[in-house]
Amino acid sequence: MLKRRQSLSGPVVSCGSISGYIDRTKGLVDNWTQITVNSLTVKGFVVINYRNQFPQAVHAIVEGIKLGKIKVTEGYTIEDLSNDPNTLLKVPRVWNKLFTNEKPNGEPNSTFKLETVKIDQLSIKDGFILVKVLYLSNDPTQRVWIQKGLDASRMYVPPVKEGEPMRSLAVGKVIESKSDKYSKGDLVSGALHWSDYAIVHEQAIWNKVDTSSGLPIPTFMSSLGMTGLTAYFGLTEVGQFKEGQTIIVSAASGATGSMVVQIAKHLLKAGKVIGITGSKEKGKYVESLGADFTVDYHDEDWKQQLSDYIGNDYVDAYYDNVGGDMLSFVLKKIKSFGVVIACGSIAGYNDSSKNAVTSWSEIIVNRLRVQGFIVSDFKDKFPQAIGAIVQGVKSGSIKATEGYNVNDLSDGLQLEKIPEIWYQLFASNKPNGKLLTKLADE
Ligand SMILES: NC(=O)c1ccc[n+]([C@@H]2O[C@H](COP(=O)([O-])OP(=O)(O)OC[C@H]3O[C@@H](n4cnc5c(N)ncnc54)[C@H](OP(=O)(O)O)[C@@H]3O)[C@@H](O)[C@H]2O)c1
Repeated sequence: MLKRRQSLSGPVVSCGSISGYIDRTKGLVDNWTQITVNSLTVKGFVVINYRNQFPQAVHAIVEGIKLGKIKVTEGYTIEDLSNDPNTLLKVPRVWNKLFTNEKPNGEPNSTFKLETVKIDQLSIKDGFILVKVLYLSNDPTQRVWIQKGLDASRMYVPPVKEGEPMRSLAVGKVIESKSDKYSKGDLVSGALHWSDYAIVHEQAIWNKVDTSSGLPIPTFMSSLGMTGLTAYFGLTEVGQFKEGQTIIVSAASGATGSMVVQIAKHLLKAGKVIGITGSKEKGKYVESLGADFTVDYHDEDWKQQLSDYIGNDYVDAYYDNVGGDMLSFVLKKIKSFGVVIACGSIAGYNDSSKNAVTSWSEIIVNRLRVQGFIVSDFKDKFPQAIGAIVQGVKSGSIKATEGYNVNDLSDGLQLEKIPEIWYQLFASNKPNGKLLTKLADE
């Protein structure tokens, strides 16, 4: 517009350039020479620079209004939604979500990108709820959900595709509801997203969280949550584990492993519990939970240490969270007709070549039973398991308060740090117990 509007030496007060805010190509100045040939003065400004003069300016405008020279009543428009039953005024207009960007390459920061997205008010359809996300559960299986080249027909949940918001188990508070099952204000646990808010169908919710017992939310995501239940059903239903039997547990300091140790030792009265961990400190923690013996798999001779401890007795069961080389070795330490509770194979989640099992013949020669499972296979029995674990917590045999570690991102809502925290699951710096990320207070 420079060419048409300016006379020689006229000023241009540059207040804004909205035509280019969405599409930068529309904000280009292609006749810059007009400034030169017409000796124009261009002066940009930001109103806050004149804040010392705000009182004078307000006074001048008020005078203009009084004299009728400035029309105020026509100067704004109000969209009144207060009587609209569908109003969403009390809920946020935007949400921040981490989307899968490209398939993981070991660098969590390049795999996900953070975007701010407008909440589509109409997307809260019948059966859907809007949830404020409070705590995220960090789970190794999320790595499997975004695995390259997955055969979806072989998965227990649909994979998360590129460009979709990253799915996460989480606990949140219902802000708006068009569901008959969940009401505004309910605390709910289920499959939400790496985001500050989520609109999900009621079927994505597993259960309501009842904190009337006084137990904190993190307890419902650890000892009494998915990983506690995994430990319980892995031992009882899959392993058919009996009093007096012996067991080896890998990733024993983790969310699932630490519960396996306690349930096996204190609730099911195991003869011996042996933990494999990634450090001596983790080993001490696992022993404090009830393990009779631990080895640090970073020790060069960890296999020898384990063999020396077991001697010729062998063990009844192996609770396998790791797979790969560790599984290949432990298969040789299981009694004939013993069982492998195949819970996870984290060693291969980032590098499938580490999944290889080199001692398959042990399964044949020693007639081992290997049983894989997904905790949701037992969802009808969850209340019974929670009852048993709560009894353990009440009697002091299960340590619930030490069973989790919370990374608090609620201050300033630093969502971009979510992948880094999650990635600790695959690194040696992962704290003991369940790894949680807090996004907001209730
Ligand atoms: N089947 C199911 O329904 C189900 C449900 C939940 C979990 N899981 C599986 O259970 C396992 C544990 O999950 P979780 O949520 O309880 O996580 P977690 O144990 O709290 O964290 C992962 C642990 O894995 C260990 N780890 C990571 N990379 C390893 C490697 N290369 N070799 C040996 N250990 C390694 C680390 O222990 P160190 O620091 O000691 O190395 C870390 O503590 C995973 O395999 C997961 O997929 C299965």
